Amino acid sequence: MCGIVGYVGGQSALDVVIAGLQRLEYRGYDSAGVAVLADGGLAATKREGKLANLHKRLAEHPLPAGHTGIGHTRWATHGAPNDVNAHPHLDNAGRVAVVHNGIIENFTELRAELTDRGHELLSETDTEVVAHLLAESFSSCGELAEAMRQVCRRLDGAFTLVAVHADEPETVVGARRNSPLVVGLGDGEAFLASDVAAFIAYTREAIELGQDQVVELRRDGVTVTDFEGNTAEARPFHVDWDASAAEKGGYDYFMLKEIAEQPRAVADTLLGRIDTAGELTLDEVRIPDSVLREVDKVVIVACGTAFHAGMIAKYAIEHWTRIPCETELASEFRYRDPILDSRTLVIAVSQSGETMDTLMALRHAREQGARVLAICNTNGSTIPRESDAVLYTHAGPEVAVASTKAFLTQLVACYLVALYLGQVRGSKWGDEVIAVIRELSQIATQVEEVLATMEPVRELARGLADQDTVLFLGRHVGYPVALEGALKLKELAYMHAEGFAAGELKHGPIALVEDGMPVVVVVPPPRGRSVLHDKIVSNIQEIRARGARTIVIAERGDDTVTPYADHLVEIPPTPTLLQPLVATVPLQVFACELATARGNEVDQPRNLAKSVTVE
Ligand code: M6R
Repeated sequence: MCGIVGYVGGQSALDVVIAGLQRLEYRGYDSAGVAVLADGGLAATKREGKLANLHKRLAEHPLPAGHTGIGHTRWATHGAPNDVNAHPHLDNAGRVAVVHNGIIENFTELRAELTDRGHELLSETDTEVVAHLLAESFSSCGELAEAMRQVCRRLDGAFTLVAVHADEPETVVGARRNSPLVVGLGDGEAFLASDVAAFIAYTREAIELGQDQVVELRRDGVTVTDFEGNTAEARPFHVDWDASAAEKGGYDYFMLKEIAEQPRAVADTLLGRIDTAGELTLDEVRIPDSVLREVDKVVIVACGTAFHAGMIAKYAIEHWTRIPCETELASEFRYRDPILDSRTLVIAVSQSGETMDTLMALRHAREQGARVLAICNTNGSTIPRESDAVLYTHAGPEVAVASTKAFLTQLVACYLVALYLGQVRGSKWGDEVIAVIRELSQIATQVEEVLATMEPVRELARGLADQDTVLFLGRHVGYPVALEGALKLKELAYMHAEGFAAGELKHGPIALVEDGMPVVVVVPPPRGRSVLHDKIVSNIQEIRARGARTIVIAERGDDTVTPYADHLVEIPPTPTLLQPLVATVPLQVFACELATARGNEVDQPRNLAKSVTVE
């Protein structure tokens, strides 16, 4: 979590840094702060709460103009979200300022050591020790980049650091271990940020820093070394989206824009996946087909919404390839000593590509000899970089904390991987793959149809603003959809919401149902697996008999459910396996509208951050 920005160049550093922080506020919004080098010194300001509070402070007490600066927007780990704990942190002489993303695990020892040497530390954070250590190292080596290398060698944990020193007024230094840090290369200027969104308005040429690297930014260029000072390679890349993709584009919230973008995002993720011979080709998959043919187990690791996508992928992978597949919470995975070997394919699903739990799970899998394929939305992020193969989703930047278009595109990517595995292993023939791809190709239009009919869902949501609890039920792939509906409602509306496998209800949770309680039921298509459909129709009757107010999401024309639906939300007909792509959309709209009706912050729900870069 936390957003970091650094700038050196000809523009006002404060303006560039603040604009960057605005774009990174999704990463954390507990506090924000900036430091600029000006008039031979260093000036810093920081404020608890959102960036708006920092703006206010700066309007009342402007900082001197300078061309080198750093900034931070925080998701608190060590220490309460208050002014003192906000970044930047300074040394006692006020010559060094540092911002940090991650956790320094040995900060207690370092702090004790510094205190013994007479340093006065003011905050409860782990970060502040870095400012003091940098000041000490700088006074002996006289160079900020070298001081940073010396300090990094002493730190344990995951950290991204960006620092400035008043004695080097035209330098910004950054260091990366685990958490992301990208460099933007401009003309006579350079940028550092947790995410390219921070500098996309100025340049689309970027460099992705590798693990354990230090970068020195000057107006005329950048130098990258490892922590020992050896010249290091960092990967240059071009950002293929522009600043408008990171704007709200006329919508009240990023989430609304991102929900509306789903038809395009789904289509883009499918684009170019079929070659001229009609065969499925995934050119970013660098694991040889010979290895994929030998795979005897697939394990999907992910968190939150991406985990729900992985749960759905399990159904597709097992159905289309007949390879056993497990989906696991990345945060639990490595701690239970999973059985993995070179014939295991681990699929790590992550929008941000920097979720620490997922990263640690994939590292563990690779240590055990498994191959790892990442499904990711963020080019250049850590998870794809550390995987054996990557399939990028093309959702474009997702800014709202609640994941929407990333989920749909993760599903599409999972289906593609499942089909690819089936094709390579011969359990799916070319014409079957093409038939599914044809069905997938229609999904974008079907999502558009769903989006065009959402007003009754919004109205229903507004009417439920005073409810305490909403339950969600589904079967088969509808079960993860129910979980996703409940997660959206929890994180956005702060309501008690739970998703259940409908068949499990009778084994306990039905006791929760009381008169008037809204229960959302995702009904599978009536064709194909009709047993599944019939069973859920019985489940709807069971909860209705106990007073539930049923909100039924069912295929258009499915008359069997109509008598039991207090509210019917119709979705276009799809094959059962693909239904989550259309059934999830009303749940996203429902949660967004409920959040608005309850006066909550849609894009930045309380206590959350977009990417969770700590375990
Ligand atoms: O970036 P990732 O896909 O790895 O993030 C995983 C979860 O943190 C994320 O999906 C989270 O659950 C969302 N806020 C849900 O809307």
